[in-house]
Amino acid sequence: MRPPTLPRIKSPRIQTHHHNHLPSSRTIHTHHQPTTTHPLLPLTQRNCIITGGAGALGHAIAKSLVAAGATVWLVGRTRATLHDAALDIHRSTLPPDQEFAPGPNTSNSNSNSNNRINIIEGDILAQGFWQRVFEDNEARLAKNVDVLVNAAGVAQNGFLFSSDEAGLRGVLDTNLAGSMLAAKYVGRYGMIRERHGRAGKCIVNVGSLLGERGGKGAVAYAASKAGIHGLTRALAEELAGWNIRVNAVQPGYIESDMTKGLERQSLLEKIPAKRFGRPDEVADATMFLITNMYANNCVINLDGGLSATGFQ
Ligand SMILES: NC(=O)c1ccc[n+]([C@@H]2O[C@H](COP(=O)([O-])OP(=O)(O)OC[C@H]3O[C@@H](n4cnc5c(N)ncnc54)[C@H](OP(=O)(O)O)[C@@H]3O)[C@@H](O)[C@H]2O)c1
Repeated sequence: MRPPTLPRIKSPRIQTHHHNHLPSSRTIHTHHQPTTTHPLLPLTQRNCIITGGAGALGHAIAKSLVAAGATVWLVGRTRATLHDAALDIHRSTLPPDQEFAPGPNTSNSNSNSNNRINIIEGDILAQGFWQRVFEDNEARLAKNVDVLVNAAGVAQNGFLFSSDEAGLRGVLDTNLAGSMLAAKYVGRYGMIRERHGRAGKCIVNVGSLLGERGGKGAVAYAASKAGIHGLTRALAEELAGWNIRVNAVQPGYIESDMTKGLERQSLLEKIPAKRFGRPDEVADATMFLITNMYANNCVINLDGGLSATGFQ
């Protein structure tokens, strides 16, 4: 049977601008259509909370957000790594004359501070943690959070039969319940003002390729990441009335501590790109989901093509 003839589509001409700075929106002019402008979310003065903000992916995402003008709040349990991540972001994105003073944190509130890089030390699963975050930083965060990135997570390495129960529950709790609780409290206390509030608010959940395909020694991890897809879908519908978009990025193997101990050679043979991804590449995908106002329940699989390959 002959394939159906597809209509010919004239490629749009991208208009070039004769001034030196970049346009703040993507403008495409065609002969047959009126000018179409796709506004990208401007990030200046937007408050963004990144759980796991000192981890490989959270750190890279936070750096991209600050480079784009946003104010970030890095969440994690270890003060020293939060501090190091904040310092690195400060050095690589802000002018050298700007003083480095990350603050506030939950035990040392400084809600009048205008710092663009803030750290919040605490466990996203701890009872009362999120309420405390909003109480301590009321002036800056209450009803004033624009972006939540759920990048806190833990890996699992062990077969189900030999894994202890607490470890299995810990993976599910951190990766899935942790993302759900963060969305509940940041959405409730940080994002909603009124129905159909200010456009541009969004949540990005970090899933994983393992949420969709098999992997030995990762039952709880894969289950938690499959749950991230359900969470993303259901929440996208539930929060649409408040104009909050919910998206997910689904990385494959990324250069990081989490993938350091893996047997690389056999994995590299399977990945069409023949390399692991980089945290800044995950950050790029996340920035797309945050800034593209039409992205809602959008899942980006960033895996160097691995998801397209067979299962063996
Ligand atoms: N790296 C990869 O190849 C890869 C691939 C696919 C998906 N992912 C996913 O991407 C996310 C980030 O991964 P990553 O490579 O950046 O991992 P990472 O470097 O280990 O970072 C994870 C961060 O989460 C924080 N965290 C863990 N439990 C927490 C809790 N209960 N409360 C607060 N913070 C907590 C950790 O800080 P503290 O320990 O100090 O709290 C750490 O900074 C994870 O969800 C992971 O599953 C990673």
